[in-house]
Amino acid sequence: MKFLITGMAGFIGHAVAKRLSGEGHEILGIDNLNDYYEVSLKQARLKDLADCNDVRFVKLDLADQEGMARLFAEHRFDRVIHLAAQAGVRYSLENPHVYATSNLMGFMNVLEGCRRHDVKHLVYASSSSIYGMNDRMPFATSDSVDHPVSLYAATKKANELMAHTYSHLYDLPTTGLRFFTVYGPWGRPDMAMFKFTRAIIEGTPIQVYNHGDMSRDFTYIDDIVEGVVRIQAVTPASNPQWKPSQGSPDSSSAPYALYNIGHGSPVGLMDFIRAVETAIGKKAVCDYQPMQPGDVPRTWADTEALFAATGYRPKVKVEEGAQRFVGWYREYYGV
Ligand SMILES: NC(=O)c1ccc[n+]([C@@H]2O[C@H](COP(=O)([O-])OP(=O)(O)OC[C@H]3O[C@@H](n4cnc5c(N)ncnc54)[C@H](O)[C@@H]3O)[C@@H](O)[C@H]2O)c1
Repeated sequence: MKFLITGMAGFIGHAVAKRLSGEGHEILGIDNLNDYYEVSLKQARLKDLADCNDVRFVKLDLADQEGMARLFAEHRFDRVIHLAAQAGVRYSLENPHVYATSNLMGFMNVLEGCRRHDVKHLVYASSSSIYGMNDRMPFATSDSVDHPVSLYAATKKANELMAHTYSHLYDLPTTGLRFFTVYGPWGRPDMAMFKFTRAIIEGTPIQVYNHGDMSRDFTYIDDIVEGVVRIQAVTPASNPQWKPSQGSPDSSSAPYALYNIGHGSPVGLMDFIRAVETAIGKKAVCDYQPMQPGDVPRTWADTEALFAATGYRPKVKVEEGAQRFVGWYREYYGV
């Protein structure tokens, strides 16, 4: 099988490429190596993949329409795992245009490449943030998600709509994965586990939003990767019997699927901080802050559909995941 992995220098892309390597596939990864966070970490992830003979990397921007068209024409991918995007909720308040460029134009180019070159399955990253104002827990893909509270979330919701259109018009099988707060080794410096670990080790304060009254369905990277790898092998089929009047938002007559991919149990922010403190062996200095615009107070994934499709349930609890992350952090930075 020939795979395209977009965002391969990113946190999840690197981990998925590493996991797929050695399984008899040919993997090509792209990334624009932007400086949203430290580029050296993206380069180090690519270096970590350098020994995998079946993985190749091309530096390319998703928004480069011609470059993307050429890539698809040249390589004739069987499957595409689309993970490149401008991520981050808070950053989308200050830099909205980059979300339109990467997440909308970029996704458009991925869809066009897939439909013109007969890709058998497109799996793409959506986000738990699209649940926005929803307060019914756990979040389920059968719930409507029409009230996003950040532009980032709105672009992810747009991706799901665009994917549905291409599934319907061109019979392109698409699967959207709503990721829930992924953490672990090689993680993202803009996310809580990374920021807290860095600050606690350096002895600087950590910002605790909504005065600590938040919870997240934290999901360990290996559990995410297992879900992604298993679901890419489950190609959605069309269902001519499907009727819009009876269907829920996650179903269709088109070959279109949507899943939550999360641990399936929320962890309170203060418990999360305690897990990081224990892993480091040092107390945090907490700087309590109000709720941040664009943020949601709670997330909790209903993961039954993904379990039914893949037979896999996430295994790693946050205490164990924090130990593994801190171990990686200390080794990577030599601290
Ligand atoms: N990590 C999480 O908790 C989480 C949660 C929800 C959704 N997601 C989504 O999962 C996907 C992967 O996230 P991640 O945590 O690995 O983020 P990441 O930022 O580490 O990885 C994304 C990669 O995409 C690349 N990229 C961005 N814009 C690009 C463009 N225009 N062209 C080419 N490459 C580009 C970046 O350089 C980066 O290496 C993203 O779509 C993200 O929105 C992640």
